[in-house]
Amino acid sequence: MPGQPLWLRCEKKEFERRAALTPTTAKKLLDAGFDIFVERDEQRIFNDPEYEAVGCKLVDNNTWPSAPVTTPIIGLKELPESDEALPHTHIQFAHCYKGQAGWSSVLARFHRGGGTLYDLEFLTDASGRRVAAFGFHAGFAGAAAGALAFASQKKDEKLGRLEPYANEESMVNAVKRTLGGSGKGVKALVIGALGRCGRGAVDLFRKIGLEEDDIFKWDLAETAKGGPFQEILDVDIFVNCIYLASKIPSFVTQEKIIAAGNQRRLRVVVDVSCDTTNPFNPIPIYKINTTFPEPTVPVDVGPGNPALSVISIDHLPTLLPREASEQFSSDLLPSLLELPNRKTARVWMDAEALYREKLAEAVKAEGL
Ligand SMILES: NC(=O)c1ccc[n+]([C@@H]2O[C@H](COP(=O)([O-])OP(=O)(O)OC[C@H]3O[C@@H](n4cnc5c(N)ncnc54)[C@H](O)[C@@H]3O)[C@@H](O)[C@H]2O)c1
Repeated sequence: MPGQPLWLRCEKKEFERRAALTPTTAKKLLDAGFDIFVERDEQRIFNDPEYEAVGCKLVDNNTWPSAPVTTPIIGLKELPESDEALPHTHIQFAHCYKGQAGWSSVLARFHRGGGTLYDLEFLTDASGRRVAAFGFHAGFAGAAAGALAFASQKKDEKLGRLEPYANEESMVNAVKRTLGGSGKGVKALVIGALGRCGRGAVDLFRKIGLEEDDIFKWDLAETAKGGPFQEILDVDIFVNCIYLASKIPSFVTQEKIIAAGNQRRLRVVVDVSCDTTNPFNPIPIYKINTTFPEPTVPVDVGPGNPALSVISIDHLPTLLPREASEQFSSDLLPSLLELPNRKTARVWMDAEALYREKLAEAVKAEGL
């Protein structure tokens, strides 16, 4: 008897090398009786033969529209814009539930095709926490970029283009090499250290050789006294990893930075949280999101004061596509194993109920 089919589609977004299913998780699904189809994809960090070797059936690139409509399609990023109706079940990040630009036309495609959307951002456990998220590697990669920017700054240079690393070890080695062999002696403060991104940032700092006492780990208890915090100005690198839920006092301000003059140790701020345009952004010292080609933006620090730069890249896990995919996919695995029972399994029922609610809003908004 054929097993539960699942089709891994290619990613169409530029630079996106991550995958929702890795050869490791595909193997576990095959062992559980799934039939896994994988579109050939040059862009993906995992090579086609890695999937073939574990028993997946390789199919041509971007051929999911011709898959049987009973086969769920899994991918990470949103589909390219189009008016084509969507008859399949899609599991992906669709970015259309929070009123984003074009949200209702994306959902209208599902309405016209009779398909179903399970948005990965809204697959949650019984306590409402996401079952799979990319935070850890965002923090890890953000801290690495911060350490690289710090090394550049010491040489009065600007950090150049960042490229995805083949794996975590090559990232760690590259950062250590750039710092002259080790990060020993560098001081870093991570706020939101108990969260996913924060744990990733702390892990990178440990792996590049910072002393444990030089990694300051703050979370809600430490910021309860209210900012701005002198402690931020007293480290080399500050990494912000909080989940911003409401208005809070600024962690650091331009006035404090200018007032500190050349007494300031802080050289690099990495805003992993990237609440750049949020009016409550607790780091109101920069205004733009930075990019892999241009990873840093300078802060106005006042004349004669040491330079300070901010990294505010909002897709940091892309720098570590292999490990970020492995972790995400293995966190998703228990839910995927429930896919054959998706009409009765809570995680899928909740996601479908949310989809139906958003679909009804879209149908109204589009006048369908
Ligand atoms: N830049 C990127 O590429 C990228 C990637 C993934 C996630 N993110 C963003 O990073 C942020 C954190 O995500 P996460 O998955 O780590 O969240 P999380 O919920 O796992 O962790 C957030 C942590 O911040 C702490 N926190 C909240 N408010 C705080 C405050 N005022 N002071 C101190 N600590 C505080 C929480 O207690 C928690 O430990 C989110 O905004 C998310 O969107 C960015």
